[in-house]
Amino acid sequence: MTATVYGLGVGPGDPELITVKALRRLRAAPVVAYPAPEQGASFARAIVARWLVPAQIELVIRVPMDSARFPAQAVYDRAADEILGHAAAGREVAVLCQGDPFFYGSFMYLFARLAERAHVEVVPGVSSLTACAAAARWPLAAQGDALIVLPASLADDALERRLQAADSIALIKLGRHFSRVRDLLARLGLAAEARYIEHATTPSERVLPLDAVDAAAVPYFSMILLHRRGSAGR
Ligand SMILES: C[S@@+](CC[C@H](N)C(=O)[O-])C[C@H]1O[C@@H](n2cnc3c(N)ncnc32)[C@H](O)[C@@H]1O
Repeated sequence: MTATVYGLGVGPGDPELITVKALRRLRAAPVVAYPAPEQGASFARAIVARWLVPAQIELVIRVPMDSARFPAQAVYDRAADEILGHAAAGREVAVLCQGDPFFYGSFMYLFARLAERAHVEVVPGVSSLTACAAAARWPLAAQGDALIVLPASLADDALERRLQAADSIALIKLGRHFSRVRDLLARLGLAAEARYIEHATTPSERVLPLDAVDAAAVPYFSMILLHRRGSAGR
């Protein structure tokens, strides 16, 4: 009988922020799959490393950052086929997803390929959005507030339009876009309201005002949270 494929949210970084359910599914799965950069280690795997055992088969899904060099679609096609092969042989597969699988998670590309061909169960995880709010000690939103999540890769005019429409804002995927986003927030008079958070819930977590951030050293795992005055109880 075809076994179940699980998309497991493993949380934002602190291994204690995995859910009881995800941990139970992870420990029971004979096959564990996870995304990793073309070179280097998988953050999702690192989060759960202490619970993996040598008997588990590991499938590393190396996703190219530069899609021009190698189409990521082909990577997900191949990974989906491999996962389906194990499921068809009766082996449950746990696919690890940093944070929550359906909150900007690459698992959704696998889900689109697997859902019609196997039984797929998604186990939600603690997302970076709530983890960063906790790290910054800033409630995210309250009562009638509109909360918006914006990828920093959006063009300035799109960012500006959407920033105007929200009370509480999360800017994700900062990396090389940090400097441009900081300039835009300053131009809109919002920089003083903002907080920068990197590597939330890990030993290297930092929470800083925007003017204290070195734009040249902003990591991928970072976010800006901001509230307009009067929102989220402020
Ligand atoms: C592709 S999205 C994945 C989000 C993930 N699925 C989640 O539920 O949080 C990656 C972005 O999430 C944010 N992020 C993820 N983990 C983070 C962390 N521990 N601290 C700060 N930001 C984080 C960063 O903005 C990063 O660029």
